[in-house]
Amino acid sequence: MKHKPLTLRIRRARPADMESVKMLIREAFTGEDEYWALHDLRYTEVLVAEWCGRLVGFLEYYYVILWGELAGAIYYLGVSKQYRRRGVASRLILTAEEVFRRAGASYSIASTKSSNIASRNLFRKLGYEEARDPAVISELRRALYAYEDDVFFYKRLRHCLSLGAGASSSIRSPGYSPSSTP
Ligand SMILES: CC(C)(COP(=O)(O)OP(=O)(O)OC[C@H]1O[C@@H](n2cnc3c(N)ncnc32)[C@H](O)[C@@H]1OP(=O)(O)O)[C@@H](O)C(=O)NCCC(=O)NCCS
Repeated sequence: MKHKPLTLRIRRARPADMESVKMLIREAFTGEDEYWALHDLRYTEVLVAEWCGRLVGFLEYYYVILWGELAGAIYYLGVSKQYRRRGVASRLILTAEEVFRRAGASYSIASTKSSNIASRNLFRKLGYEEARDPAVISELRRALYAYEDDVFFYKRLRHCLSLGAGASSSIRSPGYSPSSTP
């Protein structure tokens, strides 16, 4: 079912947001995914989607070297059930891509399970390629620590000269820290 779009703000999570982020993780995931999404908060960077002062979605990411270039890895992503199908995850991903570009990343990568139709449609809609080559899949699985997943996405990020500082996002470039991986 489709809903009206929300007026959203996407921003970096602050320390005071982390309890709400943990609640969002518990709402979106169960089992091992819930465990790792919570556990690895200490290693990942987090973007949050805020609507009217309420956090309605999150995206955990980190950087990794892939094929000799810097890549932004979308680790876990979730939206509160009552706010789904309003473009929240899309906005989180597009903002993460902008953050990755500003950090100098050439790729954005992600993974999911083949049973997760929502996630597969979401990444396809945003222009991600689904990896088919076993060697590419193996590299992406390693880069994403996604040993339970069987669908791997990558997107080559375009670096447009017209996207100068402050062009479309209030989020500043993160420090590049290849060691900040889970
Ligand atoms: C997957 C998830 C993050 C999508 O969040 P969302 O905010 O509802 O996504 P969006 O509104 O941006 O959807 C964008 C597109 O994704 C696809 N999509 C999203 N939810 C879908 C669903 N339930 N069924 C089919 N396609 C879906 C659609 O193509 C949609 O575009 P449309 O609404 O124009 O048809 C959300 O369902 C969720 O939190 N799921 C649980 C956690 C999870 O699986 N995370 C992803 C793996 S880490």
